[in-house]
Amino acid sequence: MRLFFALWPPPATARALEDWTQKVRKQTGGKPMRAENIHLTLAFLGEAEPAKAIAAAQRVRGAPHALPIEQALHWKHNDIVWAGPRATPAELQELVRQLHQALSDESFILEKRPFAAHVTLLRKARAPKLLPPLPRAEWPVDEFLLVRSHTVREGSTYEPLQRFTLVR
Ligand code: 2AM
Repeated sequence: MRLFFALWPPPATARALEDWTQKVRKQTGGKPMRAENIHLTLAFLGEAEPAKAIAAAQRVRGAPHALPIEQALHWKHNDIVWAGPRATPAELQELVRQLHQALSDESFILEKRPFAAHVTLLRKARAPKLLPPLPRAEWPVDEFLLVRSHTVREGSTYEPLQRFTLVR
């Protein structure tokens, strides 16, 4: 199974980001993420057994926090437009640190690149002249999810396999 860990936004936030993405797309072209697919990846596992991933995630002790959606950028190296925080919140950095450590203890090989908190909204996008202002969007983080990615003709669909609650 193709697996990854992620944060999922509340539906209203996903819809607001989807609307914003539609505006951007008029300028940049590309393939927009559908509201139900919008997420922030914490760790990408690729083909993996869920049992080991679940065992790792159960050892993580993260704190609830808010994820500010305050900047949007186009990345030239992979032609995406994304939104996210200006700086990764300390609680999120710590959550990712623990998760990556627990996964590596379970022998998962993760990317060496430092974690960059980003929510991909548009793929195969040309560089925009100027991005429109982002909507006000609340994204409370009180859980993270293990998700299975299915590849279908229209792109990907994501199936949550397990939720891990963050408690103060
Ligand atoms: P991206 O949005 O920056 O492309 C599911 O595919 C999620 O895992 C996506 O959010 C994707 O991030 C992320 N991901 C990280 N590394 C990946 C890889 N090697 N292949 C596919 N997706 C990857």
